[in-house]
Amino acid sequence: MIYISPSVLAADFSKLGEDVSRVEGAGADFLHLDVMDGVFVPNISFGPAVIASLRRSRLLFDVHLMITKPEKMIDEFIKAGADMITFHFEACDSPEPLIRHIKEMSVRASMAISPSTPVDVLLPFLPLLDMVLIMTVEPGFGGQKLIPATVDKVRTLRRIIDENGYSCDIEVDGGISAGNVGLLTSAGANVIVAGSAIFGAPSARRAIVNMRTAAAAAVYKK
Ligand code: DX5
Ligand code: ZN
Repeated sequence: MIYISPSVLAADFSKLGEDVSRVEGAGADFLHLDVMDGVFVPNISFGPAVIASLRRSRLLFDVHLMITKPEKMIDEFIKAGADMITFHFEACDSPEPLIRHIKEMSVRASMAISPSTPVDVLLPFLPLLDMVLIMTVEPGFGGQKLIPATVDKVRTLRRIIDENGYSCDIEVDGGISAGNVGLLTSAGANVIVAGSAIFGAPSARRAIVNMRTAAAAAVYKK
């Protein structure tokens, strides 16, 4: 199953609520919320209060934490209404207790790796994780170009997940459009984040339909 998760980083922040309703009405599955602390990444976005203010939406909230020491703030994001939380491997000293804590709170647990981090670091945690996020750009900013070398990481991970029978989704994030999504879905990704390609399009509905059609045309086969 393919899920489309529009990233609000590309929304118009002066009318965030309206923009979220727009992608919800346009057929999005999840809402991708990029939290940046100015330390882990060279940019600052928003925190739990903004997420809580959008909780009128019925979309599943896919919270991507680009923050150092995520364990310190995790409960705030759960209270704010996260349905799934992704933290970065590079930002966390001991992932396992954090994964377990997120799951105990009935929230889906996910871990991300930046483009320069090898897939191997994820392997010990795959039996526990609900999702893995492979960054296809350097985290920090929307509107960048996809780094082609990241596609192989998706392929490797999909093979390992399937060989071991793990039930772990693969999310991809950064520089994704209807033009290149097929590369990622044919490699085995099934959760697609897109900011500029959806919020920047004249019709969010058409952008989501095009993305789904291109993803389905190049779906991964075992
Ligand atoms: C980058 C963020 C992405 C970003 C995607 O650090 O994690 O979610 O907003 O935006 P686009 O689709 O514009 O590359
Ligand atoms: Zn993101």
